[in-house]
Amino acid sequence: MRTYTAIAPLQSALRSCRQQGQRIAFVPTMGNLHEGHLELVRRARTLADIVVVSIFVNPLQFGPNEDLDAYPRTLAADKEKLFSEGVQHLFLPDVEEMYPEGMALQTQVQVPDLSETLCGSSRPGHFTGVTTVVSKLFNIVQPDVAVFGEKDFQQLTIIRKMVTDLCMPIQIEGVATARDTDGLAKSSRNGYLSEEQRKLAPLIHATLVSCRDAVACGFDNFLQLESHARMQLLQAGFEPDYFAIRDARTLRAVNENTEEIAILAAARLGSTRLIDNVRLTLNPVSDWGMLASP
Ligand code: PAF
Repeated sequence: MRTYTAIAPLQSALRSCRQQGQRIAFVPTMGNLHEGHLELVRRARTLADIVVVSIFVNPLQFGPNEDLDAYPRTLAADKEKLFSEGVQHLFLPDVEEMYPEGMALQTQVQVPDLSETLCGSSRPGHFTGVTTVVSKLFNIVQPDVAVFGEKDFQQLTIIRKMVTDLCMPIQIEGVATARDTDGLAKSSRNGYLSEEQRKLAPLIHATLVSCRDAVACGFDNFLQLESHARMQLLQAGFEPDYFAIRDARTLRAVNENTEEIAILAAARLGSTRLIDNVRLTLNPVSDWGMLASP
């Protein structure tokens, strides 16, 4: 596995891969790698000849009240994992390399509307930080395909929209959320949970699943389902941020054009903010008939 801290040598190595007709897959990360990330790498390996992974804790996507310095950095262990997964190129830029003129002067890439709802409401500027860094990384790596986890479903939706709107010739591949056996989505943040909080945490997924079951059975009072779910989480000791039933493509309210529903939740357990989602594909004729019935 070759490691690069500068953009130019990485670009030159990838240029010769491309000249040899090799297909390039890219997995951007912020490190602290767990099984969920490794699933992305495994998928990337099936999609291309060369896998490039980046590890960059992007300050632009952290708000002033979010502790960038406390973000876990586990580089030695991350490198070992990536090496074992057969990754060929690892990009490890520092902030200077990515933002040489500082962040205030950085051109920004903003996906309106989708970036302002759900997590965007409580983390203003977060998704602009994500789309800006991902655009830069895409321009540096110029991958044929880039792989993202479905756990960050809003992020994945925003990146798909950015790639379409900006005509970036990159296939975006979403990978199903990796979960512990009790349903908790794997996340770097799970490490912050106390033993007691860890026991409680799978309730987010369980609540999402029972809401999805209710929708699949034809229960169409979404406001009631959302508020019931929020109440359940609150009573169990969570501080819910949102629990929302949305159109999976637009992240707006479900309507008669919705083909897939996403049910998304964010809630704090102590100081740890957990997010998760489940989805439900609608059969255009029979499901809408069913959802429309009382
Ligand atoms: O999902 C993440 O880890 C980050 O948001 C990403 C996509 C690597 C951009 O910094």
